[in-house]
Amino acid sequence: MNVAIMGYGVVGSGVAEVLLKNHDSIEKKSTRGSLDLKYILDIRDFHGDANEDIIIKDFNTILNDETIKIVVETMGGLNPAFDYVKSCLEAGKSVVSSNKELVAAKGYELLSIAEEKNVNFLFEASVGGGIPIIRPLSQCLAANEIVEISGILNGTTNFILTKMFNDGLGFEEALRLAQENGYAEKDPTADIEGFDACRKICILASLVYGKHVYPESVYTEGITKIDYADVEYARAWGGAIKLIAVAKKLGENKISAIVSPAFVPCSSQLASVDDVFNAILVKGDAIGDVVFYGKGAGKLPTASAVVADVIDCARHTSKKRFFGWGAAVPDYVIDHLDAEAALYIRALTENDEEAIAAAKKVFGEIEVLSRQGAPHGEIAFITSAAVERELRTKLETLHMIDTKSVIRILNE
Ligand code: HSE
Repeated sequence: MNVAIMGYGVVGSGVAEVLLKNHDSIEKKSTRGSLDLKYILDIRDFHGDANEDIIIKDFNTILNDETIKIVVETMGGLNPAFDYVKSCLEAGKSVVSSNKELVAAKGYELLSIAEEKNVNFLFEASVGGGIPIIRPLSQCLAANEIVEISGILNGTTNFILTKMFNDGLGFEEALRLAQENGYAEKDPTADIEGFDACRKICILASLVYGKHVYPESVYTEGITKIDYADVEYARAWGGAIKLIAVAKKLGENKISAIVSPAFVPCSSQLASVDDVFNAILVKGDAIGDVVFYGKGAGKLPTASAVVADVIDCARHTSKKRFFGWGAAVPDYVIDHLDAEAALYIRALTENDEEAIAAAKKVFGEIEVLSRQGAPHGEIAFITSAAVERELRTKLETLHMIDTKSVIRILNE
């Protein structure tokens, strides 16, 4: 069976490498004969590359070749990936994608076409890199009602936060290291502003709750505003700061979903997830807590998940794998301000004692934090959990403080 790859970047070249290196063992697992890489589509030139002779520039070569039954999309982005994937599915080819932007924005549409054409559209690598999560959620945990799914879904930001926390590295230096390791997106804004994690929680929420969740409906905050002072307060409090994505079922037709930095206590399994590792904590009504942990980015870990999907497509040429969800419904995701949260607040003030007393008066019980070397007039405290809108309104009434940072506390 012939396979084509669209996009010869970090992940695409990893897929080619794994397909060629493990050709014989993959042949045994596919049960349909060998899986032969026939084309690699990329607009760039790759002079001297081991696969140079199969690199093509015209998408129609893949589309019109009836021997290509499985197409791997590792181009990233929406255009032209969406048009290409759609055309392949419509032409009766199965597609495997690692492209979370595509699945988060167009998953329902592409899954519907795949269903109609009785072909597969698989995307295990789109969430958690090499960590198996899409298949376990839709198969192994199918008996459960998923109460909540939360996790560290972006390797780049976790790498940056770990370097800041453990090694005292600056944000820019840590980001550069992540880019050098091939973890970051082409434009790292998607990583550091939380968009990548947002796309991934949308895919997970769509899968477990059955309705398409679009990234636009999920409040998203990145890590660019985190100051080293916040990292130190998190340590003094007994935890760490992580970029956390959460989706939670609230009723038949309501969920909450958010991506934001959070204070994570050491008691949480997510607190010790460091470097490029991702972890996804699933709370099921029958199984309780399950954590999926592994490398969430990088060439070969991600290629591992893509090639497993390719093998699955080859095994299921006549009988489609069922992965799917329904169309989006309006007002399905609640406003994040209507959800409950406890908040960490760091501020500057002229008078620490009076400011803390005022904060206690406004918020009731608070946990006051301190750190070594804090500048004169800096205060930090944690509120009790309440509806976030109410806490924000109260904070606005504290005129004697100049708020520098507000970070949510992970609700365990
Ligand atoms: N840029 C992504 C990350 C790659 O850092 O997690 C994997 O999706």
